[in-house]
Amino acid sequence: MSIRFRLLLSYLAMVLIPIVFVILSTVLVALLFRGDIKELRNIYLPPEHHQRVTEKDQLLIDLHRESLKNPGQFMNQSYLKKIDNQLSQAGGSSLLVRHGDKIIYQSSKITGLDKDDLPAFGFYGEVDPVEEINHQFVTIKKSDFLFPDNSEGTLFFITDANSLARFARSSFPILFIGLIFILIVTNGLLTYYVSRSIIRPIRKLQKAANQMKEGDLNNPIEVHSKDELGQLAQGFEEMRIRLKESIEKQIAYEENRKELIANISHDLKTPITTIKGYVEGIRDGVANSPEKMERYVQTIYSKSIDLDHMIDELFLYSKLDLQRLPFHFEQLAFDDYLVDFVEELRFDLEKKRIEIYLDIEKSDNYLVMVDREHLKRVVTNIVDNSLKYIDKEDKILSFKLSIIDSQIVFSMKDNGPGIEEKNLPFIFERFYRADLARGTEKGGSGLGLSIAKRIIEEHQGSIWAESSKGQGTTIFIKLKKAGDTIEENSNH
Ligand SMILES: Nc1ncnc2c1ncn2[C@@H]1O[C@H](COP(=O)(O)OP(=O)(O)OP(=O)(O)O)[C@@H](O)[C@H]1O
Ligand SMILES: [Mg+2]
Repeated sequence: MSIRFRLLLSYLAMVLIPIVFVILSTVLVALLFRGDIKELRNIYLPPEHHQRVTEKDQLLIDLHRESLKNPGQFMNQSYLKKIDNQLSQAGGSSLLVRHGDKIIYQSSKITGLDKDDLPAFGFYGEVDPVEEINHQFVTIKKSDFLFPDNSEGTLFFITDANSLARFARSSFPILFIGLIFILIVTNGLLTYYVSRSIIRPIRKLQKAANQMKEGDLNNPIEVHSKDELGQLAQGFEEMRIRLKESIEKQIAYEENRKELIANISHDLKTPITTIKGYVEGIRDGVANSPEKMERYVQTIYSKSIDLDHMIDELFLYSKLDLQRLPFHFEQLAFDDYLVDFVEELRFDLEKKRIEIYLDIEKSDNYLVMVDREHLKRVVTNIVDNSLKYIDKEDKILSFKLSIIDSQIVFSMKDNGPGIEEKNLPFIFERFYRADLARGTEKGGSGLGLSIAKRIIEEHQGSIWAESSKGQGTTIFIKLKKAGDTIEENSNH
């Protein structure tokens, strides 16, 4: 429940509960006094409309009938006195008779009643059920009839209502105090419950904010309500998680950076030490024959090439890492691109007696958005690895292009030594070499596949490897198809 709705409900309850209380207590008072609430309604209705007939009501009905049948006798004072007595016995009522606008009989119990206070002939409308006449509280019932001379006559049955008024008066302070009490209790309770549901989560948030300020980001914020505060807490919780992630990332990044510097220093140091050693050999005259000299210079040269290659790769990797390497994407048919690439490669490989196969599955098209140059680097890096690590007499490379789940999958398989399963998940990490000793001997820096991975990721694609020791390695590249038709304005 939202806080707004809760406040509205509690406001309504604060208003309605006391009102209901007042109504209920008023009804209760009336019931207590009259015994039946309907009686209140009956006071001004002609007796025949009364719903519940008491002994007194029956008398009134009889009198009414009598007044219609035999109105003359209602001028007889002794008859009236008799009725008056009957009335006073039946229900403590007194009789008053009006003839025209004159009062011809008035019970001795009625004092101080002004004839103007009495309702007119034929009037049965709404009149206060309890009249205050000369500081006396009375209820008045009446019954109209016509005297034999056709003049208007009315019988008034006046009942003392002082006990009701007194009761109302005496219970009024109790009612008033009760009302105030109920008001205070309802307001107090509702305010307590509503504010508790607001203040508690605020305290929790405050505590969490303090913990975060102190750098402790491990404690989740436990506010589960669905109201505005719950949403605020959820936002806060998301902020905490993000902050934690970003700090962890920062730490991991720092670690990475340190490791990177250590790796670079180590990898640069090895060829430089070799170069330095050979240069010293020349300087000190150890290379004392033209053959030795030739060998020394050749080693220095090849180590410089390794160094150059390594620096190039490092430079490329750092540009990729900083996202400073520009990509020029263009739409091209991957199958045609591969046919050209393999043709070019076949020329070099034939000299090295390496077989290369290309299998392109039938498909409508192999359109992709790629950067031609960078993609070539990826494929070259992978082919270089295969060539570098193949240890068999008959060296075979098999490329395959197919569509799987509407994506282009390109695989490059060699029949080399394969990669041990435990090393497989790491070969795309920078500076990773599955077999360190052999890797160094082969002159690799361990950057080739990580560069390939970065480039493929820039293409929104994925790259992975499958391998079994002794059988060979397959590297897979998956790329999104770039539409079904060649775009006219693709940028070449
Ligand atoms: N075709 C393959 N056969 C066997 N092992 C492979 C093959 N391709 C990669 N590897 C293993 O994965 C490691 C990582 O390859 P990666 O190309 O990243 O580095 P590298 O070849 O050692 O160095 P660089 O490519 O920078 O010259 C290699 O050191 C090698 O152990
Ligand atoms: Mg490599």
